[in-house]
Amino acid sequence: MREIGQDNQPQNQIKRRILTGHRPTGPRHIGHLKGTLETWAKLQDSYQCFFLIADEHVLTTDYEHPGRIQGNILEVLADWLAAGIDPDRSALVLQSAVPEHAQLSLLFSMLVTVARLSRVPTYKEQVKELQLQPSLGLLTYPVLQASDILIYKAEAVPVGEDQLPHLEMTREIAHRFNQIYGQTFSEPEAILSSTPRLPGLDNRTMHTSYGNAILLRDTPEETTRKVMSMYTDPTRIHSTDPGHVQGNPVFDYLDAFHPDHAEVAGLKTRYEAGTVGDVEVKRRLANVLNETLAPLRQRRAKLIARPEYLKEVLHSGTEQVRPIAQATLAEVYAKMGL
Ligand code: TRP
Repeated sequence: MREIGQDNQPQNQIKRRILTGHRPTGPRHIGHLKGTLETWAKLQDSYQCFFLIADEHVLTTDYEHPGRIQGNILEVLADWLAAGIDPDRSALVLQSAVPEHAQLSLLFSMLVTVARLSRVPTYKEQVKELQLQPSLGLLTYPVLQASDILIYKAEAVPVGEDQLPHLEMTREIAHRFNQIYGQTFSEPEAILSSTPRLPGLDNRTMHTSYGNAILLRDTPEETTRKVMSMYTDPTRIHSTDPGHVQGNPVFDYLDAFHPDHAEVAGLKTRYEAGTVGDVEVKRRLANVLNETLAPLRQRRAKLIARPEYLKEVLHSGTEQVRPIAQATLAEVYAKMGL
């Protein structure tokens, strides 16, 4: 079995370790690709990367649909690999297959007050959004996430802005642990993605569950249909009216995906002058998306047709990293007097 960081390149041994992950809530969309997956793929050149499928975290809001999780894990894996996550260089890890995450979370939960967790903004938002009595599991979501990171002593965590409160919690837990039991964990830093977040088709946040996302697995026909239905400039009635480019998701997508920046600049100028219609711009965007996504979609189609291969990738990544988790947990047990 290949050991992480012990392959032919000697400089690998000094590579810093990062851990990041997604909850397997469904297939990934073009917002994930631009904001996250392309960044992760690049980070593989300079870091030892662990990519976590956080299936236990799914249960914090979706424990009543156990039938969905296994399929969603494969969907996420196929998207990740198609987007350039390389299982030969990075470990893909299944959270529930490394019980040490949950064990460490129990121990960490002693170091965090209920009041502190109740103030975490993501928790407050979820409680408001879901309009139900929050579970203990939802409250301790950030403690489990801290365990995901610290069980491997990861030094950095590439995340979106929305995850910063969880990283703050992680640093606090590391700090508190070190204070009481002696230096054990470094306080991991965030690696923030520099690409602006892509809005959804309707200009809200792009979200699979809002039905406002273009999925990586969508066919060219679905993509075109979605693009033609996109929100544009609501103040523009006729195609000869001067249009607005700012806050217009059609142009956000063109900026993100069209390799020919000069053509985008030209379209913007004509849009603002009222010499190009929404339909023409959308047709162009649909073609651009379908062209640039085609190679990824081809890889993705091949991967999703091989569930046994995907399971093997996840299994072997998980096997590789588990000894690290076991060692950390043993150290924590001893330090906490167990
Ligand atoms: N909370 C993250 C999200 O919703 C997923 C996640 C779980 C994660 N564990 C993690 C991200 C550890 C980074 C590190 O996107």
